[in-house]
Amino acid sequence: MSQASASSIPATSPDHHPDILACHQLEHHITGSGHTLSILKGIDLQLKPGESLAISGASGSGKTTLLGLLAGLDIATGGDIQMFGQALAKLDEEGRAALRRQRVGFVFQSFQLLPTLTALDNVLLPLQLTGVSEAKQKSIAALHSVGLAERLNHYPSQLSGGEQQRVALARAFAGEPALLFADEPTGNLDHASGRHIADLLFDMNARCDTALLLVTHDLNMAERCQRHLRLRDGRLHHPVQQAD
Ligand SMILES: Nc1ncnc2c1ncn2[C@@H]1O[C@H](COP(=O)(O)OP(=O)(O)O)[C@@H](O)[C@H]1O
Ligand SMILES: [Mg+2]
Repeated sequence: MSQASASSIPATSPDHHPDILACHQLEHHITGSGHTLSILKGIDLQLKPGESLAISGASGSGKTTLLGLLAGLDIATGGDIQMFGQALAKLDEEGRAALRRQRVGFVFQSFQLLPTLTALDNVLLPLQLTGVSEAKQKSIAALHSVGLAERLNHYPSQLSGGEQQRVALARAFAGEPALLFADEPTGNLDHASGRHIADLLFDMNARCDTALLLVTHDLNMAERCQRHLRLRDGRLHHPVQQAD
């Protein structure tokens, strides 16, 4: 049973730190076979350093689309996005990729580990690609911090889903990102593993002072973020007690 909230509202936060991420009147429409699908219809949000913001919504509400646009993985059909004070629209694909490599981490529902690399090498490779110093020590330390010290040389196929997601968390945090995007990070896990991953995610978010943008249909996880907004009909709303 759904309840409509009063209106679309901007996700602004009260203090005056510079935004890590902001968007204004973000729209996304996809045209195909003669009709247009409007997925996002004017999204405003701001995320400050170290802050956690959850965007929840039903399956198909546009959460993954929104995350992909905010991360500069796709181009919106309208509106502005600023990441670290830079307008994504003014950067080409390589410029956006360079921005992400330096300061952005990702955690996905499907872990997205490279199957031919060990846990250690999955964490190490992105650090080496960005030329981080002491990459191997940092990778080992990150895997220790997620409780996988005994699994450094295991391949993804030799790890449980929860363990694979812990490797993905270590990979995301090893580079000490200022901004982490997480898309349904517990969506493929059983309740206990999901709970463990959520605990680790919020612990690392707090410890590393990483800003977190979490998209999820899991209201329990969304409620653990400092702010929680709900995506419905292409707009952000304050959440109501009952799920859509
Ligand atoms: N490239 C695309 N082409 C056509 N439709 C798309 C495309 N990407 C997403 N959609 C549609 O947009 C809607 C939102 O999708 P998505 O962002 O994946 O939602 P969510 O992550 O909330 O489940 C869905 O109806 C989906 O089918
Ligand atoms: Mg999705």
